[in-house]
Amino acid sequence: MITLTVNGMTHSLDVDPTTPLLWVIRENVGLTGTKFGCGIAQCGACTVHLDGAPVRSCVTPVQVADGKQITTIEGIGDGGDLHPVQQAWIDEQVPQCGYCQSGQIMSAIALLESNPEPTDSDIDNAMSGNICRCGTYPRIRRSIKQAADTMTAAALNEKTTAGDQTNG
Ligand code: FES
Repeated sequence: MITLTVNGMTHSLDVDPTTPLLWVIRENVGLTGTKFGCGIAQCGACTVHLDGAPVRSCVTPVQVADGKQITTIEGIGDGGDLHPVQQAWIDEQVPQCGYCQSGQIMSAIALLESNPEPTDSDIDNAMSGNICRCGTYPRIRRSIKQAADTMTAAALNEKTTAGDQTNG
């Protein structure tokens, strides 16, 4: 039995431990936002977070995720409460066919969590494993910068508010 926590919900699953995590997320857990692209970790469409780090779920055996926290595109926000990266994606109208985009967003969030103010080359390096056949790269880069600004401003605001409360 494998125990996965996906977007905060625990699932006990009777699956072959060598099954790719991607299949289990899609077929057993029923979350289809994470896409199958190449199946060999070359395109990034299947990117999810495992304990906060981006992984290619198409080549990750489900046993590696046993007992860990998995976050998929469905777990980062919803229609009424979007993640700043999702909002930036909408504002910049990033997707074309859309197929690669959940993987792009998951990689972008992982980048911003480890590097809140990425340069162009930081973005290019972090996103180089996510391929877009439609060539949406310039819009992806602009969106990441917009989300970085939004997230930095929100963090600053939070600090100021916390400071105000501490100071009475
Ligand atoms: Fe079509 Fe990226 S939007 S592959």
